[in-house]
Amino acid sequence: MGKDPQFKRTIACIGAGYVGGPTMAMIAAHCPQYKVTAVDSNAARIAAWNSDTLPIYEPGLLDLVKKARGRNLFFSTDVEAAIAEAEIIFVSVNTPTKTFGEGAGRAADLQYWEKTARTIAKVATSDKIIVEKSTLPVRTAAAMARILNHNEKGVCFEVMSNPEFLAEGTAVVDMEKPDRVLIGARETDEGKKARDAIVEIYANWVPREKIVTSNVWSAELSKLVANALLAQRISSINSISALCEKTSADVMEVSHAVGMDSRIGRQFLRPSIGFGGSCFKKDILNLVYICDSYGMNEVARYWESVVTMNDYQKRRFVQNMIAAMFNTVAGKRIALFGFAFKADTGDTRESPAIDVAKQLVEERAKVVITDPKALDNAKIDLASLLTKIELAADPYAAAKGAHGIAVCTEWEEYRALNYQAIFETMEKPAFIFDGRNVLDHQKLFEIGFNVFPIGKPALKHF
Ligand code: NAD
Ligand code: UGA
Repeated sequence: MGKDPQFKRTIACIGAGYVGGPTMAMIAAHCPQYKVTAVDSNAARIAAWNSDTLPIYEPGLLDLVKKARGRNLFFSTDVEAAIAEAEIIFVSVNTPTKTFGEGAGRAADLQYWEKTARTIAKVATSDKIIVEKSTLPVRTAAAMARILNHNEKGVCFEVMSNPEFLAEGTAVVDMEKPDRVLIGARETDEGKKARDAIVEIYANWVPREKIVTSNVWSAELSKLVANALLAQRISSINSISALCEKTSADVMEVSHAVGMDSRIGRQFLRPSIGFGGSCFKKDILNLVYICDSYGMNEVARYWESVVTMNDYQKRRFVQNMIAAMFNTVAGKRIALFGFAFKADTGDTRESPAIDVAKQLVEERAKVVITDPKALDNAKIDLASLLTKIELAADPYAAAKGAHGIAVCTEWEEYRALNYQAIFETMEKPAFIFDGRNVLDHQKLFEIGFNVFPIGKPALKHF
């Protein structure tokens, strides 16, 4: 199949997940002159993209999809047809941490990427630009170019890197007004031509000065480094939260004071029960693996400590709960407010709430989980514990008869609950552990709760 003559360019994206679906919707919405097809081997996911119940919850996404779906945006399971037709192919398949063999637990599992490259090489009958949208180890493009260009059809592939920086929950805004778009290409004539084609796409809505170009390796590495630095800031402030709890300093005041230094900046200094999400841990471990493989022990251990600190923070949160509740939570009902790894998403990948729930079940607590968007995923994540936990859509029902509440996700609606009414239905003494420091602690204390924030003095009635 050749290019559709109705459109200036034909773009495909392999992998229609949290990144592929939204990014293609954004390109299609801003570029009616391009035909954009997102394909995925997961038929249920594609069916959902073609319905009004999208496969992921993301504010503003349905409106965005509706702008272009059926006009110049298509979702399909026919991967081969999309490859055959496209001039530019974004690849946005998952690149999880390897769970087996060499590098297990650290290296990126590139099997989905490589499979995609082989399918492209098999199906393509014309030259194509291949764009790495997935987050990949530095120098992956070289391996991909080798697989792709090792064909006997004389078809040429230009592999380039265009990592994605969107965050879940704010994906639409992040893509609409990105801090930067990064495009890494080879400094050859073909590389420059491919780079210009990708720049041209983004220039439809992103100011030119925000479109940054670099060599391929810098683009690949910059993505890992951006995530590592963001996660490092969270681990840094979380490490200080532990010190604050011992010294009666208030981590919110410390975060505010240090963040006012324009050289440090305010963002990503919110203390929490730890960072979650599908990428921070995976990408740091990938960086660690790469450094180890170059024999750079000190550099590897430095970045690894960001993950170690995060594990410590999650563990510490539960240890604090147990200590506060008279050294035992066995038989006590504990309501987890929030299960998603952050607000405004139903995603629970690597959510700290998973660890909190598992640790509490191990301590024989009766765990009840409530979340406005993530209960279906919670059911999957805790499949082996379903007889030991309860899921409740309504936070008031979750808290009824509970000894304690642990806020695990900073959903806006948890700020607006009637905590007086909740207090009255709980066992006494009633505890609130605010793992996100989002509630009005003084007010809760006045209602009668014993309040344990992160990195701040507890407010206790005993
Ligand atoms: P995801 O698991 O939601 O989506 C990946 C999709 O690829 C799945 O739907 C899967 O079915 C599909 N897929 C895998 N192999 C395929 C194949 N051979 N043919 C067709 N489809 C195939 O993952 P995601 O969260 O969208 O992440 C994708 C990449 O983007 C990862 O490398 C991730 O690190 C990176 N990233 C993610 C985010 C995020 O917020 N989730 C942000 C920036 C970058
Ligand atoms: C993160 C990055 O912010 C994106 O730029 C990147 O594209 C993406 O990873 C990716 O590569 O997947 P995301 O994980 O969706 O995005 O969400 P973040 O807002 O970064 O939050 C990650 C975790 O850190 C959440 O659990 C959040 O609650 C936590 N967090 C964030 C804190 O604990 N404190 C903060 O100050 C900020």
